Amino acid sequence: MCGIVAYYGPNQAYDFLIKGLQRLEYRGYDSAGVALLNGDLRVYKNAGKVSELEAIADNQNVTGTRGIGHTRWATHGEPNSINAHPHLSQSGDIALIHNGIIENYDTLKKVLISRGHEFKSDTDTEVLTHLIEEIKEEEQVDLLEAVRLALNEVIGAYAIVILSKNDPNTLIAARKGSPLVVGISENEGEFFLASDATPIVEYTKKVTYLDDNEIVSIHDGEMTLKTIDNVIKSPFIQELEISLDALEKGGYEHFMLKEIFEQPKSIYDSMRGRFDPVNLTFAMRSLVEYSGKIRNLDRIIIIACGTSWHAGLVGEYLIEEFGRIPVEVEYASEFRYRNPIITEDDLVIAISQSGETADTLAALEMAKEKGATIYGICNVVGSSIPRITHAGAYTHAGPEIGVASTKAFTAQVTVLTLLALGIADIRGKISKKRLREMFAELDTIPHKVELLLESCNEKCKEIAAIYQDAPNCLYLGRGYNFPVALEGALKLKEISYIHAEGYPAAEMKHGPIALIDEEMPVIVIAPKRNYYEKLLSNVQEVKARKGKIIAIVTEGDEKVKEIADHYIEIPDTEDCLTPILATIPLQLLSYYIAVNRGCNVDQPRNLAKSVTVE
Ligand code: F6R
Repeated sequence: MCGIVAYYGPNQAYDFLIKGLQRLEYRGYDSAGVALLNGDLRVYKNAGKVSELEAIADNQNVTGTRGIGHTRWATHGEPNSINAHPHLSQSGDIALIHNGIIENYDTLKKVLISRGHEFKSDTDTEVLTHLIEEIKEEEQVDLLEAVRLALNEVIGAYAIVILSKNDPNTLIAARKGSPLVVGISENEGEFFLASDATPIVEYTKKVTYLDDNEIVSIHDGEMTLKTIDNVIKSPFIQELEISLDALEKGGYEHFMLKEIFEQPKSIYDSMRGRFDPVNLTFAMRSLVEYSGKIRNLDRIIIIACGTSWHAGLVGEYLIEEFGRIPVEVEYASEFRYRNPIITEDDLVIAISQSGETADTLAALEMAKEKGATIYGICNVVGSSIPRITHAGAYTHAGPEIGVASTKAFTAQVTVLTLLALGIADIRGKISKKRLREMFAELDTIPHKVELLLESCNEKCKEIAAIYQDAPNCLYLGRGYNFPVALEGALKLKEISYIHAEGYPAAEMKHGPIALIDEEMPVIVIAPKRNYYEKLLSNVQEVKARKGKIIAIVTEGDEKVKEIADHYIEIPDTEDCLTPILATIPLQLLSYYIAVNRGCNVDQPRNLAKSVTVE
């Protein structure tokens, strides 16, 4: 949450900052601001999006070869221009941008106020600028040392970048709990900093990801790295693998639509090279390295939030079906605060698209401290979760920029399928015949997704036009498709603001059935697999109460189609793979409903893609 960018070099900073903020807008879009250093320190900031900031700043003096920029997801203080970053110190000589939360800001603020400091905003961030300046003056130290000493007084999470009018050849940045990447240009003395690599990749592929408690100082064109305990470190420099095309809309109206249509490729990429359907072997390093552990496991705990939690539920069904190990799926935010029982024999799997979700990260750290083996299924390479786990598998879905998660979910489910099969193989719970069947079917999935996207897109548009004004919507599924019902409902509510609930179809009788009348669209995920007959009865129950039924059915289905008001066909596949297919029309339905309602599908209100606060 909140995106930060910074530039230090021989060229003008402004264009990089604005472009970078646009790339990071998925992290928050309550306000945006930049500070530029060119003799004096100028700050331009505004409530609203980066485009609104541009409209103001473009007519001003935006020169400067040092600059910092911020796009905000408000935590402390309402989203107005005063609370927008950058924030200035008491004298106005130091400017700072921040992603995270300073938990002890109130205590620090009171002390600073008692010493005569005056604050302009309601933010926790402003406190840090005053603190750094006060330490610099009181202790007579340079900027780097002042930042280091200040950070030793701070409790909380931060990625920060600091510019000082009195130190024009210095830029300082630090990280604890919130991500920060430094891009190192081919041009001597040129550096790009950002919350993730997407603003940087256009300029350089050479990057270093800061670790927690590290401070980077760029001074006179040279970069140095140290910890907040004053230990000098050498940066680990790596090559980025992101392509620039992946960051553009590529002719689509929205990133979300592009990402939905990318799924044949993203699903393929998430399984590519990871199994050999001829020799029936796995090429997942984590499975090989941890085979001893997996053989002796008693329990797996999956932790995640939101859509990734829904993938985790599918993972539970998969691992229990194939691997025959008990699996618990936990909301990371609940798990970490309820003193859960974790032992050294547990495998704790975190699922996260961003790899930065604060609750998931903290829950995982807790599990690691208690001795569990921790495993990450993440999409963003180099993000925080993969960096703390013992093992893991990237989903390789490519950058997901639309705030609503789409291709990340199907890639997560694909990786979980492979993991479940791998665990089953290691534990001797799956026959070679069944493994062959599963590999063969998995191989067909990218193509089936491609066909499905072609066949269901127009139908989803038509159905969306009929139900776009519905105030409520119910999603029902059973077995593997119960999590899909939850995911379908989440997708609809987050981008169209229609109230939607997902339920296991049989639970309907225990309460939600009271909601059903002729106004209520009920989306039933009813592939012709396990529970088909049971689902048919649930569909009848909805029909009897005059609910409007939109059914996701297997190609060639006759029975559900006959009862439903509308149907969308998906290709036939293994029961455990139906979530990958059934999710796709639900994504499209939500997308078209939201577009018809005039909603901003890529940046829904109040949301941010990377939830780096608790
Ligand atoms: C919904 C959505 C969120 C995320 C959740 C976890 O479309 O995107 O619910 O799934 O915030 O994020 P990650 O997967 O990055 O940990």
